[in-house]
Amino acid sequence: MHITGEMKMVDVVQKDIQLLAVIQRLNIPLGFREKSVKEVCQEQEVDLQFFLSLANAFHDKEYFKVEYFKDFPVTWLINYLKSAHKCYIEYRIPEIERQIINLEKQVDAKEKNMGLLLKFFRDYIREFTSHIEQEEANVFPYIIELADRIKDLENGKIDSLGEDEFSITGYLDDHNNIEETLFDLKNILLKFLPPPVENCEYNNLIYDIFRLESDLLDHADMEEGVLFPRVHEMEYRLNEAIKKQG
Ligand SMILES: [Fe+2]
Ligand SMILES: [Fe+2]
Repeated sequence: MHITGEMKMVDVVQKDIQLLAVIQRLNIPLGFREKSVKEVCQEQEVDLQFFLSLANAFHDKEYFKVEYFKDFPVTWLINYLKSAHKCYIEYRIPEIERQIINLEKQVDAKEKNMGLLLKFFRDYIREFTSHIEQEEANVFPYIIELADRIKDLENGKIDSLGEDEFSITGYLDDHNNIEETLFDLKNILLKFLPPPVENCEYNNLIYDIFRLESDLLDHADMEEGVLFPRVHEMEYRLNEAIKKQG
């Protein structure tokens, strides 16, 4: 399916329920009635092209092309990513943790595996949370600052650039793949742990981890494939302007 503005929003979501994540991150409320994608976006003051690019990229990995995102303000991308962070930290991760604790309660006291799993997951949460905090506290504000300086540059206000070179390369190179650890966790579950009492609950846990993992892969694609190249481009423009000035 290629999502267009003329389609009914309800049909789009019916065909791919995962798109609810995109809709939620853009703060679009449900209750679409018979409205088209275009009408819903207009009503919620969401840019139609931005919505279509995100929804199509999310729905069809083949569609994902960095060029589709190159003209949107970086602040839109950052708001979208922040909204995803909030959802992971406040809901998805606690929900997985709750399920692990619940399963741990059901297994035999001699069974150490669930305890180990919980420890593995808690370590993961710590790493994941600090990754997100770092982005929210340092990386995103820095990118917004770059975008502001670019605006200054375009308006001829070159004085505000200062003399220091803009560079975030060190951080971006280290942008570690937090989804890899999640893959490890799923692997441990699938390979080594015997399903405890409640098989259905156990499967649900694996399914939730799987979904989070795939979501995080998309998230990392958006950061590494779309946002960070924009950062390099902005830094390059600003550093060239500083050089010329000096
Ligand atoms: Fe992120
Ligand atoms: Fe990240």
